[in-house]
Amino acid sequence: MTKAGPPAPNVTAGLAFGAAPRDPARAMSDRSPSRLPPSQAAGPLFAIRGLTKVYGEGAAAVHALRGVDLEIARAEMIVLLGPSGSGKSTFLNIVGGLDRPSAGEVFFAGRELGTMSGGELTRYRRDHIGFVFQFYNLIPSLTARENVEVVTDIAQSPMKADDALALVGLGDRRGHFPAQLSGGEQQRVAIARAIAKRPEVLLCDEPTGALDSKTGIAVLEAIANVSAELAATVAIITHNAAIGAMADRIVRFADGRIAEIEANRSRAAPATLSW
Ligand SMILES: Nc1ncnc2c1ncn2[C@@H]1O[C@H](COP(=O)(O)OP(=O)(O)O)[C@@H](O)[C@H]1O
Ligand SMILES: [Mg+2]
Repeated sequence: MTKAGPPAPNVTAGLAFGAAPRDPARAMSDRSPSRLPPSQAAGPLFAIRGLTKVYGEGAAAVHALRGVDLEIARAEMIVLLGPSGSGKSTFLNIVGGLDRPSAGEVFFAGRELGTMSGGELTRYRRDHIGFVFQFYNLIPSLTARENVEVVTDIAQSPMKADDALALVGLGDRRGHFPAQLSGGEQQRVAIARAIAKRPEVLLCDEPTGALDSKTGIAVLEAIANVSAELAATVAIITHNAAIGAMADRIVRFADGRIAEIEANRSRAAPATLSW
């Protein structure tokens, strides 16, 4: 890639996750000091090289990842398929900064996660990554809106909780408690909570795993909507091959490796999927 024109603003400084704010009040008012402006973005959002994860030692060692290489573009949507135990969750957790690899590298916008301290990794997760899991982990005593506000209260430039709920099609349910919502609605609250801080990245680990197909499709529609509205980079783990059609690429895991990558010509609308 050639550089042309006036020197770019100091991109590296903008990515200094670890830099201690000199003036905390000022740092709070700065909308998003650690973000890389998309216009200055060159190359893939993620570059993952030789990712390896071994749990345990000796005879009991489990090789969860055996050298995974993958690049993920900005605003791309990928679906990760593969049998149970093939390393999908391990992969997503490491990419999201929830876990550290045994070997290999994850570059996020050019910054290698392995060089970050624990605190920097926490900030990486907080500022850039939204997680959605199979089980929604909502707080039962809080309404839908309040569950989202748990995150918007501490985020740097959040959307309004009501706007996040509208984005997932729950504008009319914001005063409901989790027990008053269906499984699919609860999952959509969890998605609203994950994306209300406007993360660049949304990582979903079997988001429809506990849902019937009709409800699952409503959840996928919420994810597709978020992807379109926020231009977020999205990765979805699923057991369900049909869901692959809504992605730009399908990444098939087998035995700790990527066995196959398939590019779709276009994304299918979730409403057209069936299983
Ligand atoms: N914390 C852990 N300790 C030990 N083994 C683990 C741990 N997490 C995952 N594994 C093992 O690593 C392998 C990959 O697991 P995982 O990434 O969860 O696969 P998937 O999400 O594709 O089902 C499996 O054999 C699993 O049992
Ligand atoms: Mg898993």
